[in-house]
Amino acid sequence: MERIYFDNAATTALDPEVLEAMLPYMTTHFGNPSSIYSYGRETRLAIETARKTVARLLNAHPGEIFFTSGGTESNNTAILSAIRDLGCRHIISSPIEHHAVLHTIEHYACGENVTSSFVKLLPDGHVDLTDLEEQLKEQKERCLVSLMHANNEIGNLLDIDAVGNLCKQYNAIFHSDCVQTVGHYPLDLRKTPVHFISGAGHKFHGPKGVGILYVNDNIRVKPFIFGGGQERNMRAGTENLYGIVGFAKALELAYARVEEEHSYILSLKNYMREKLVATIPNVGFNGDSEGRCLYTVLSVAFPKTEKSEMILFNLDINQICVSGGSACSSGADQGSHVIRAINNDPNKVTVRFSFSRHNTREEVDAVVGKLTELI
Ligand SMILES: Cc1ncc(COP(=O)(O)O)c(C=O)c1O
Repeated sequence: MERIYFDNAATTALDPEVLEAMLPYMTTHFGNPSSIYSYGRETRLAIETARKTVARLLNAHPGEIFFTSGGTESNNTAILSAIRDLGCRHIISSPIEHHAVLHTIEHYACGENVTSSFVKLLPDGHVDLTDLEEQLKEQKERCLVSLMHANNEIGNLLDIDAVGNLCKQYNAIFHSDCVQTVGHYPLDLRKTPVHFISGAGHKFHGPKGVGILYVNDNIRVKPFIFGGGQERNMRAGTENLYGIVGFAKALELAYARVEEEHSYILSLKNYMREKLVATIPNVGFNGDSEGRCLYTVLSVAFPKTEKSEMILFNLDINQICVSGGSACSSGADQGSHVIRAINNDPNKVTVRFSFSRHNTREEVDAVVGKLTELI
């Protein structure tokens, strides 16, 4: 049996066109971008062209784009910079952020200098904006608000403009983890009131180990990795040249087909949801799955039975790749902090199905068929 890959929120397959764009920078164009002779000038040009491409696609200035090693580094850096360089002394976040945000906040907001709090969540898992405003109003210290644009486990989409406008009103710094939306939704950073966003190439058919941190021109942050003068003195170290070239190419391809993919993948997701409702009694869906939600993610709550508790294991045996919550809990259901925060129903077992353009209705039929046997 062929493998079925329904875990595209964890990572996606590298696009062959992206690989093709990257290959010369692994072979003939190997020069160090900091070298002054022609080898170096060629690769420097490739990095700066990639930066311009990314900036154009996100409607940002090239000077606002920093290449990093991925979503985790970008999230860590945004939070560190807000505390160290921008005077933020209180962090408002949510209990359903990625661990790259939650653990960073835990690290910095443990002493007396920096404090943190969570916003309330509504029953459908969305952030309670009234509560966010209350918290911003009450804080005497400057706040950092770190709220993800889309949740990687349940798919809920944040109203990023509404949050940004609240932050503006209360002079707070706003960081949004956009790892699940960069390359999947058009972003216009000149119009979006946000100071930092994070993105990762491998979530939209680009390479792993490369991401971006967008830093709005209106704020000034200090270097975050010390050493040579790379990334305009902010992030030292010889650049991930072929990763950066691949990131830009993948983003270009993603935005060229974003509308087409949106409707195709959404139709697959809806097809799966309808089939599940029709075939599995008492099946449920986590988050606002029919409303403001990623078209790529369907988080399913199966009734807990002796059989369904083993579901991730059994799906794996049947060559079906899915996650319990995020990629970190694939294989073994250690319980997801996101599902715990939104509905701690001990009688449900959660499986996240996440799709890409490579998936088909036939695969959905095969997976639902298998699920009816396994539940
Ligand atoms: C929402 C979100 N933030 C951050 C990350 C971390 O990104 P990376 O694995 O590229 O460091 C991921 C992916 O795992 C994610 O889904």
